[in-house]
Amino acid sequence: MPVIAIIGAQWGDEGKGKIVDLLAEKARVVVRFSGGDNAGHTVINHYGEFGLHLVPSGIFYPGVTCIIGNGVAINPAVLIGETAQLNQKGVDTSSLFISDRAHLIMPYHILLDGLEEQSRGGKAIGTTRKGIGPAFTDKTARLGIRVGDLLDREAFLERLRPILEYKNTILTKIYGADPLSLDEIYRQYCQYGEHLAPLIRETTVMLARALDRNELVMLEGAQGTLLDPDFGTYPYTTSSSPLAGGGCLGAGLGPTRIDRVLGVFKAYCTRVGSGPMPTELLDTTGGLIRERAHEYGTTTGRARRCGWFDGVAARFSTQVNGLTSIAITRLDVLDTLPQLKICVGYKLEGQTIDYFPGSITSLDRCQPIYEELPGWQSPTSDIRDYEKLPAQAKQYIARLEELTSCPVSIISVGARREETIHKAPIL
Ligand code: GDP
Ligand code: IMO
Ligand code: MG
Repeated sequence: MPVIAIIGAQWGDEGKGKIVDLLAEKARVVVRFSGGDNAGHTVINHYGEFGLHLVPSGIFYPGVTCIIGNGVAINPAVLIGETAQLNQKGVDTSSLFISDRAHLIMPYHILLDGLEEQSRGGKAIGTTRKGIGPAFTDKTARLGIRVGDLLDREAFLERLRPILEYKNTILTKIYGADPLSLDEIYRQYCQYGEHLAPLIRETTVMLARALDRNELVMLEGAQGTLLDPDFGTYPYTTSSSPLAGGGCLGAGLGPTRIDRVLGVFKAYCTRVGSGPMPTELLDTTGGLIRERAHEYGTTTGRARRCGWFDGVAARFSTQVNGLTSIAITRLDVLDTLPQLKICVGYKLEGQTIDYFPGSITSLDRCQPIYEELPGWQSPTSDIRDYEKLPAQAKQYIARLEELTSCPVSIISVGARREETIHKAPIL
């Protein structure tokens, strides 16, 4: 049985939650490996509609062990609230575990995220303000506090005291903000620790055991490839790696263990937050897509920027993730459009280029070169068999396969679990 990484291949919100919820039926373990509650994964199934921020989207299957891996930054209040909500709707969360190595989002991370964004003025990144950037900065700077630290109260206090002193100096001296109380944070986080203690595990052992038993393991990506700090539109990125490679580090398994990498793409592009997006549509078509697809963020409610499918970015994403197949979501959103465009190259300073530039100053100057395809102008949401899709829709999918040199295995034609076409096997 293989390990499958399911990752976002654009700027996030591709529909990873739907795809993981769909495929997890066959899995024994599902692991979230990056990000934190900046993620918002929508799942619609017989339990209802959910916007999951931290809990893996495999949680709806009682036999599936769900792990929040070491690569995730956890806001304990959000996690406790999310499990309570799931329980309220009848979802059993007793097979949810969290890595003792995962870092904690602390109150100063959230405060600093907001203050740093304010200080960026017109150059703000448009973060979710969940404290993600400051938490991963602390991880790298060796100033982080980890989930496992909550299990030893004395050691936790000893760790928190000097870190908070340092954070309070930054808050008061640089930003003129009020200092945070050691006592309050300590008491609050001890309570969280008590609550979460039964879930905390050395999760790499759980994963290794599953692999030894040849069980199907799924790695659930958060964010998207073009938000990766290395390969995304830096500095307009997030702070942990959403790539398949990030899955090895954030779950705790070697690269040789990942057998399949399924990249999730929307049939067009969206982005929330600032930074370059070559195919962004600022006209009525962009607005039409946004309203038809209700493109508003699951986490922050912000309007998503919409645009045509970017074949150059998609090829790049396929390459840096080593995609073995593709899931195309939201094909139904394009049902009404008479003409569709796909970006097949960029024009940069009079030259045609076919690669995704590393520098945003170059990317900002890139003009998309479009190819036009006819729309199908008929509803697709009730179709379950690939052969029954309109010819123009099949032509559109075939062109995406050509541009990425990667086969499409899944086509999603609606938000619900069952609104799916299986075109080819993933395995
Ligand atoms: P994620 O962060 O990648 O899990 O994606 P989000 O949940 O943030 O955003 C994807 C949105 O698209 C959600 O509102 C989903 O319910 C919705 N969705 C997923 N697949 C489809 C689809 O095939 N068609 C339509 N119309 N909506 C979809
Ligand atoms: P899912 O998992 C879409 C974006 C933010 C911002 C940038 C940095 O639902 O696909 P951060 O809070 O991470 O420091 O913000 O990254 N961003 C996302 N956009 N989907 C997400 O997650 C995102 N997580 C972060 O909008 O532009
Ligand atoms: Mg999302």
